[in-house]
Amino acid sequence: MAESDFLEMATTAPEIGAAPRHVALIMDGNGRWAAARGLPRFEGHRRGVEALRRAVRAAIDLKISYLTVYSFSAENWARPREEVQSLLGLLHRFIRNDLAELHGNNVRVRVIGARADLAPEIADLLREAEQVTQANTGLTLVVAFNYGARQEIAAAARALAEMVAEGRLDPEKIDADAIAARLDTADIPDPDLIIRTSGEQRLSNFLLWQAAYAEFVFLPILWPDFDHAALVAAIAEYKHRDRRFGRVQPARSATTAS
Ligand code: IPE
Ligand code: IPE
Ligand code: MG
Repeated sequence: MAESDFLEMATTAPEIGAAPRHVALIMDGNGRWAAARGLPRFEGHRRGVEALRRAVRAAIDLKISYLTVYSFSAENWARPREEVQSLLGLLHRFIRNDLAELHGNNVRVRVIGARADLAPEIADLLREAEQVTQANTGLTLVVAFNYGARQEIAAAARALAEMVAEGRLDPEKIDADAIAARLDTADIPDPDLIIRTSGEQRLSNFLLWQAAYAEFVFLPILWPDFDHAALVAAIAEYKHRDRRFGRVQPARSATTAS
Protein backbone atom coordinates (compact mmCIF):
# COMPACT_ATOMS: atom_id res chain seq x y z
CA MET A 1 0.00 0.00 0.00
CA ALA A 2 1.34 3.44 -0.88
CA GLU A 3 2.19 5.87 1.88
CA SER A 4 -0.66 8.15 0.77
CA ASP A 5 -3.15 5.29 1.28
CA PHE A 6 -1.99 4.78 4.85
CA LEU A 7 -2.26 8.48 5.55
CA GLU A 8 -5.75 8.54 4.09
CA MET A 9 -6.79 5.55 6.19
CA ALA A 10 -5.45 7.18 9.33
CA THR A 11 -6.94 10.58 8.64
CA THR A 12 -10.40 9.29 7.65
CA ALA A 13 -10.69 7.01 10.70
CA PRO A 14 -12.51 8.43 13.74
CA GLU A 15 -10.44 10.52 16.16
CA ILE A 16 -8.94 8.88 19.23
CA GLY A 17 -11.56 8.74 21.96
CA ALA A 18 -14.37 9.26 19.43
CA ALA A 19 -17.17 6.81 18.77
CA PRO A 20 -16.56 4.22 16.04
CA ARG A 21 -18.11 5.03 12.68
CA HIS A 22 -18.41 1.39 11.65
CA VAL A 23 -19.13 -1.44 14.09
CA ALA A 24 -19.16 -5.06 12.90
CA LEU A 25 -20.78 -7.84 14.92
CA ILE A 26 -19.99 -11.55 14.89
CA MET A 27 -23.25 -12.77 16.39
CA ASP A 28 -22.08 -16.02 17.97
CA GLY A 29 -23.39 -18.30 20.71
CA ASN A 30 -27.04 -18.97 19.81
CA GLY A 31 -26.58 -22.75 20.02
CA ARG A 32 -24.87 -22.60 23.41
CA TRP A 33 -27.53 -20.22 24.73
CA ALA A 34 -30.20 -22.77 23.81
CA ALA A 35 -28.21 -25.78 25.05
CA ALA A 36 -27.74 -24.13 28.45
CA ARG A 37 -31.54 -24.02 28.76
CA GLY A 38 -32.25 -27.46 27.37
CA LEU A 39 -33.86 -25.87 24.29
CA PRO A 40 -33.37 -26.75 20.60
CA ARG A 41 -30.73 -24.73 18.72
CA PHE A 42 -33.52 -23.15 16.68
CA GLU A 43 -34.80 -21.40 19.80
CA GLY A 44 -31.35 -19.85 20.26
CA HIS A 45 -31.44 -18.55 16.68
CA ARG A 46 -34.96 -17.18 17.19
CA ARG A 47 -33.83 -15.30 20.29
CA GLY A 48 -30.76 -14.22 18.33
CA VAL A 49 -33.01 -12.35 15.91
CA GLU A 50 -34.47 -10.44 18.86
CA ALA A 51 -30.93 -9.53 19.93
CA LEU A 52 -30.26 -8.32 16.37
CA ARG A 53 -33.30 -6.02 16.60
CA ARG A 54 -31.93 -4.61 19.87
CA ALA A 55 -28.49 -4.16 18.31
CA VAL A 56 -29.91 -2.19 15.36
CA ARG A 57 -31.95 0.06 17.66
CA ALA A 58 -28.91 0.60 19.90
CA ALA A 59 -26.73 1.47 16.89
CA ILE A 60 -29.30 4.05 15.76
CA ASP A 61 -29.50 5.46 19.28
CA LEU A 62 -25.69 5.68 19.52
CA LYS A 63 -25.49 7.36 16.10
CA ILE A 64 -23.26 4.74 14.54
CA SER A 65 -23.07 5.21 10.76
CA TYR A 66 -22.44 1.59 9.69
CA LEU A 67 -23.42 -1.63 11.45
CA THR A 68 -22.32 -4.88 9.78
CA VAL A 69 -23.80 -8.13 11.08
CA TYR A 70 -22.46 -11.59 10.27
CA SER A 71 -25.70 -13.49 9.79
CA PHE A 72 -24.63 -16.56 7.81
CA SER A 73 -21.16 -17.58 6.69
CA ALA A 74 -20.20 -19.35 3.48
CA GLU A 75 -19.16 -22.23 5.74
CA ASN A 76 -22.46 -22.39 7.65
CA TRP A 77 -23.98 -24.43 4.76
CA ALA A 78 -22.08 -27.35 6.31
CA ARG A 79 -24.49 -27.40 9.28
CA PRO A 80 -27.33 -29.94 9.42
CA ARG A 81 -29.96 -29.32 6.76
CA GLU A 82 -32.74 -28.53 9.26
CA GLU A 83 -30.59 -25.91 10.98
CA VAL A 84 -29.70 -24.27 7.65
CA GLN A 85 -33.41 -24.25 6.72
CA SER A 86 -34.35 -22.65 10.02
CA LEU A 87 -31.66 -19.97 9.64
CA LEU A 88 -32.88 -19.17 6.11
CA GLY A 89 -36.45 -19.06 7.43
CA LEU A 90 -35.44 -16.59 10.15
CA LEU A 91 -33.68 -14.32 7.64
CA HIS A 92 -36.80 -14.45 5.49
CA ARG A 93 -39.02 -13.53 8.43
CA PHE A 94 -36.64 -10.84 9.68
CA ILE A 95 -36.75 -9.03 6.35
CA ARG A 96 -40.51 -9.57 5.88
CA ASN A 97 -41.38 -8.37 9.40
CA ASP A 98 -38.74 -5.73 10.01
CA LEU A 99 -38.16 -4.08 6.64
CA ALA A 100 -40.98 -1.56 7.20
CA GLU A 101 -39.60 -0.57 10.61
CA LEU A 102 -36.04 -0.34 9.28
CA HIS A 103 -37.25 1.81 6.40
CA GLY A 104 -39.31 3.95 8.82
CA ASN A 105 -36.14 4.47 10.86
CA ASN A 106 -34.27 5.72 7.78
CA VAL A 107 -32.00 2.62 7.77
CA ARG A 108 -30.26 1.75 4.50
CA VAL A 109 -29.84 -2.00 4.10
CA ARG A 110 -26.88 -3.43 2.19
CA VAL A 111 -26.05 -7.07 1.70
CA ILE A 112 -22.55 -8.53 1.27
CA GLY A 113 -21.72 -12.12 0.35
CA ALA A 114 -22.10 -14.31 -2.72
CA ARG A 115 -25.52 -14.01 -4.38
CA ALA A 116 -25.08 -16.17 -7.47
CA ASP A 117 -25.86 -19.55 -5.90
CA LEU A 118 -28.71 -18.44 -3.62
CA ALA A 119 -32.28 -19.65 -4.08
CA PRO A 120 -34.15 -17.03 -6.17
CA GLU A 121 -36.65 -16.25 -3.38
CA ILE A 122 -33.82 -15.40 -0.94
CA ALA A 123 -31.92 -13.41 -3.58
CA ASP A 124 -35.11 -11.47 -4.45
CA LEU A 125 -35.78 -10.71 -0.81
CA LEU A 126 -32.25 -9.35 -0.27
CA ARG A 127 -32.52 -7.25 -3.41
CA GLU A 128 -35.90 -5.89 -2.27
CA ALA A 129 -34.49 -4.86 1.12
CA GLU A 130 -31.67 -2.98 -0.60
CA GLN A 131 -33.90 -1.34 -3.20
CA VAL A 132 -36.63 -0.20 -0.81
CA THR A 133 -34.10 1.44 1.53
CA GLN A 134 -31.45 2.66 -0.91
CA ALA A 135 -32.24 6.37 -0.57
CA ASN A 136 -32.24 6.31 3.24
CA THR A 137 -29.64 8.43 4.99
CA GLY A 138 -29.50 7.06 8.55
CA LEU A 139 -27.72 3.92 9.76
CA THR A 140 -26.36 1.67 7.02
CA LEU A 141 -27.11 -1.92 8.09
CA VAL A 142 -24.76 -4.24 6.22
CA VAL A 143 -26.02 -7.84 6.33
CA ALA A 144 -23.27 -10.38 5.65
CA PHE A 145 -25.14 -13.36 4.27
CA ASN A 146 -23.51 -16.34 2.55
CA TYR A 147 -20.39 -14.30 3.23
CA GLY A 148 -16.80 -15.54 3.27
CA ALA A 149 -13.88 -13.12 3.18
CA ARG A 150 -11.54 -15.48 1.35
CA GLN A 151 -14.18 -16.07 -1.33
CA GLU A 152 -14.73 -12.30 -1.58
CA ILE A 153 -11.00 -11.64 -2.05
CA ALA A 154 -10.74 -14.49 -4.58
CA ALA A 155 -13.63 -12.99 -6.58
CA ALA A 156 -11.86 -9.61 -6.63
CA ALA A 157 -8.65 -11.28 -7.81
CA ARG A 158 -10.60 -13.11 -10.54
CA ALA A 159 -12.22 -9.86 -11.74
CA LEU A 160 -8.82 -8.17 -11.98
CA ALA A 161 -7.30 -11.22 -13.73
CA GLU A 162 -10.07 -11.11 -16.33
CA MET A 163 -9.35 -7.44 -17.01
CA VAL A 164 -5.65 -8.22 -17.43
CA ALA A 165 -6.43 -11.18 -19.74
CA GLU A 166 -8.60 -8.91 -21.88
CA GLY A 167 -5.82 -6.34 -22.08
CA ARG A 168 -7.86 -3.73 -20.16
CA LEU A 169 -5.61 -3.55 -17.11
CA ASP A 170 -1.86 -3.28 -16.62
CA PRO A 171 -0.81 -5.72 -13.83
CA GLU A 172 1.44 -2.93 -12.51
CA LYS A 173 -1.74 -1.02 -11.61
CA ILE A 174 -2.98 -3.72 -9.22
CA ASP A 175 -2.53 -2.34 -5.73
CA ALA A 176 -4.46 -2.54 -2.46
CA ASP A 177 -6.94 0.10 -3.63
CA ALA A 178 -7.66 -1.86 -6.83
CA ILE A 179 -8.50 -4.95 -4.79
CA ALA A 180 -10.54 -3.03 -2.19
CA ALA A 181 -12.56 -1.45 -5.02
CA ARG A 182 -13.69 -4.92 -6.14
CA LEU A 183 -14.77 -6.25 -2.76
CA ASP A 184 -18.47 -6.31 -1.82
CA THR A 185 -17.62 -3.52 0.63
CA ALA A 186 -16.08 -1.21 -2.01
CA ASP A 187 -18.07 1.86 -0.94
CA ILE A 188 -18.22 1.06 2.79
CA PRO A 189 -15.49 2.32 5.17
CA ASP A 190 -13.44 -0.33 6.99
CA PRO A 191 -14.82 -1.44 10.36
CA ASP A 192 -13.38 0.48 13.31
CA LEU A 193 -14.60 -2.00 15.90
CA ILE A 194 -15.34 -5.72 15.53
CA ILE A 195 -17.28 -7.30 18.38
CA ARG A 196 -17.63 -11.07 18.78
CA THR A 197 -19.90 -12.55 21.40
CA SER A 198 -19.71 -16.04 22.97
CA GLY A 199 -16.10 -15.80 24.14
CA GLU A 200 -14.63 -17.23 20.92
CA GLN A 201 -11.66 -15.19 19.75
CA ARG A 202 -11.47 -15.66 16.01
CA LEU A 203 -12.73 -14.06 12.80
CA SER A 204 -14.19 -17.19 11.16
CA ASN A 205 -13.62 -15.80 7.64
CA PHE A 206 -15.27 -12.42 8.38
CA LEU A 207 -13.94 -9.19 6.79
CA LEU A 208 -10.34 -10.44 6.65
CA TRP A 209 -9.21 -7.67 4.32
CA GLN A 210 -11.26 -4.88 5.84
CA ALA A 211 -10.20 -5.72 9.41
CA ALA A 212 -6.54 -4.81 8.80
CA TYR A 213 -6.66 -2.01 11.39
CA ALA A 214 -9.88 -2.78 13.24
CA GLU A 215 -10.02 -2.96 17.02
CA PHE A 216 -11.40 -6.21 18.46
CA VAL A 217 -13.61 -6.64 21.50
CA PHE A 218 -14.52 -10.19 22.54
CA LEU A 219 -17.51 -10.32 24.85
CA PRO A 220 -18.12 -13.34 27.10
CA ILE A 221 -21.91 -13.14 26.70
CA LEU A 222 -23.86 -15.30 24.24
CA TRP A 223 -25.49 -13.50 21.30
CA PRO A 224 -29.14 -13.84 22.45
CA ASP A 225 -28.16 -11.86 25.58
CA PHE A 226 -26.68 -8.94 23.59
CA ASP A 227 -28.28 -5.58 24.31
CA HIS A 228 -27.78 -1.80 24.35
CA ALA A 229 -25.58 -2.01 27.45
CA ALA A 230 -23.31 -4.59 25.82
CA LEU A 231 -22.81 -2.33 22.80
CA VAL A 232 -22.11 0.66 25.05
CA ALA A 233 -19.55 -1.41 27.01
CA ALA A 234 -17.75 -2.55 23.85
CA ILE A 235 -17.62 1.02 22.55
CA ALA A 236 -16.28 2.26 25.89
CA GLU A 237 -13.47 -0.31 25.61
CA TYR A 238 -12.80 0.80 22.02
CA LYS A 239 -12.47 4.42 23.11
CA HIS A 240 -9.54 3.48 25.35
CA ARG A 241 -7.57 2.03 22.47
CA ASP A 242 -4.80 3.85 20.64
CA ARG A 243 -5.14 3.39 16.92
CA ARG A 244 -1.71 3.98 15.47
CA PHE A 245 -1.92 2.69 11.89
CA GLY A 246 1.77 1.84 12.07
CA ARG A 247 2.79 5.29 13.17
CA VAL A 248 4.09 6.48 16.54
CA GLN A 249 1.73 6.94 19.44
CA PRO A 250 -0.24 10.18 19.14
CA ALA A 251 0.70 12.80 21.75
CA ARG A 252 -2.73 12.89 23.43
CA SER A 253 -2.77 9.22 24.31
CA ALA A 254 0.70 9.39 25.89
CA THR A 255 -0.83 11.36 28.74
CA THR A 256 -4.40 10.02 28.89
CA ALA A 257 -4.06 6.31 28.16
CA SER A 258 -3.50 4.05 31.13
C1 IPE B 1 -24.40 -17.98 15.76
O1 IPE B 1 -24.64 -18.92 16.75
C2 IPE B 1 -25.38 -18.09 14.61
C3 IPE B 1 -24.78 -18.52 13.35
C4 IPE B 1 -23.54 -18.91 13.18
C5 IPE B 1 -25.63 -18.51 12.19
P1 IPE B 1 -24.14 -20.42 16.64
O2 IPE B 1 -25.22 -21.23 15.99
O3 IPE B 1 -22.81 -20.49 15.98
O4 IPE B 1 -24.03 -20.81 18.17
P2 IPE B 1 -22.90 -21.68 18.86
O5 IPE B 1 -21.58 -21.11 18.46
O6 IPE B 1 -23.09 -23.08 18.35
O7 IPE B 1 -23.18 -21.55 20.32
C1 IPE C 1 -19.40 -17.31 12.62
O1 IPE C 1 -19.81 -18.14 13.64
C2 IPE C 1 -20.51 -17.07 11.65
C3 IPE C 1 -21.63 -16.27 12.12
C4 IPE C 1 -21.71 -15.70 13.30
C5 IPE C 1 -22.71 -16.09 11.18
P1 IPE C 1 -19.57 -19.73 13.59
O2 IPE C 1 -20.18 -20.27 14.83
O3 IPE C 1 -20.05 -20.28 12.30
O4 IPE C 1 -17.98 -19.83 13.62
P2 IPE C 1 -17.02 -21.01 14.09
O5 IPE C 1 -17.42 -22.22 13.28
O6 IPE C 1 -17.25 -21.23 15.53
O7 IPE C 1 -15.65 -20.52 13.80
MG1 MG D 1 -20.91 -20.44 16.66
